Amino acid sequence: MDNQILVALGQDYIMNTYSHLAIALVRGFGSYVWDSDGNKYLDLISGIAVNNVGHCHPRVVKAIQEQAEQLIHCSNLYWNQPQTLLAKLLVDNSCGEKVFFCNSGAEANEGAIKLARKYAAKKYGSKRYEIITALDSFHGRTMGALTATGQEKYQQDFKPLVPGFKYVPYNDLQALQDAVTAETCAILLEPVQGEGGVHPATKEYLDGVKALCAKKGLLLIFDEVQTGLGRTGKLFAYEHYGVEPDIFTLAKGLGGGVPIGAIVARGEAATAFEPGDHASTFGGNPLATAAAHAALSVILNENLAQEAAAKGEYIKQQINEFRKNNPLIKEIRGLGLLLGIELNIEGQKVQQLCQRKGVLVNCVQSRVIRLAPPLNISYDDIKAGLKTLQAVFEEIGRKD
Ligand SMILES: Cc1ncc(COP(=O)(O)O)c(C=O)c1O
Repeated sequence: MDNQILVALGQDYIMNTYSHLAIALVRGFGSYVWDSDGNKYLDLISGIAVNNVGHCHPRVVKAIQEQAEQLIHCSNLYWNQPQTLLAKLLVDNSCGEKVFFCNSGAEANEGAIKLARKYAAKKYGSKRYEIITALDSFHGRTMGALTATGQEKYQQDFKPLVPGFKYVPYNDLQALQDAVTAETCAILLEPVQGEGGVHPATKEYLDGVKALCAKKGLLLIFDEVQTGLGRTGKLFAYEHYGVEPDIFTLAKGLGGGVPIGAIVARGEAATAFEPGDHASTFGGNPLATAAAHAALSVILNENLAQEAAAKGEYIKQQINEFRKNNPLIKEIRGLGLLLGIELNIEGQKVQQLCQRKGVLVNCVQSRVIRLAPPLNISYDDIKAGLKTLQAVFEEIGRKD
């Protein structure tokens, strides 16, 4: 079907929750995707930080094919090999001790919220239930995750929200200290706020948060849904800070493009759930976990976290270079290959012009262009993408 027909069908039959761009993608390989008219795009956003190993990585494809011929699904009433091996690989490579698998980032955060409350109920009784999160955070769209998300614009029209949440400004330790009460059980933060405009936490902040949690007996939960799996230049973003959380959540880049989420926990939090407390029919199913095991193995074996660190630095340098002659760019920030270019103009136009020139980028918080390419993108492709971005900035600059 051609692009126009697919777009029209989508408009007729798909609920209107996304501001869709007018292309229907049919194929992907490495850092490229193709639309149904055969147009090729360099993907500098990779499914919004999902395709960390690139599109259709041969090892991921093979793992899916082989697993699909063996066992696609079984209930969590039974053990299955890909799930247990993936859990072991995650534990062996993180501060975590045990894993719960689910199907998305929102679901992972829902589960982490429940896990924190369960831990607190067991340890302190039912009076500790409150979770503090940050303003401008993003944790997902289900009711608990939406409540945790400190952005009113996503919450309005869906009230009443879940009770027991409080928001504080990000990177402001004093505000967090002031917000903790006898009811607080956990603090939930993104190490880098992604959807909020790509704002990394400072080291002093996370050190202070960790000390506060230790002092008050609170659980520290990191939402690594966007930052995890090599994206920021370390396998998990908490490694940049030397601050290990009690619980962290994963999704996006975990499955190499296949839907999967995970809650990883350590210490007493890891054993707080008991049979009947939490579940997911599809969570950890053999197909998704086989794909994720392959994707994570690629990230580890091909040193993609280190690659992301070096490539991120290169992009920052290059953008800073052309920022000198381009007043439209305010700054570039981020960690590894999770980057935000803050503009002095609205970003939608940049996104559209890039797309017309065959490069996919994403605009967040209206003035930030988010870049999250595959971690194994080549330097040639990075250079091509930067050239297009530069041309777009210059074109807009000439018109303004
Ligand atoms: C930090 C973070 N947490 C949670 C989510 C929600 O993930 P999902 O869309 O898989 O539910 C996202 C999605 O953008 C995210 O960036």
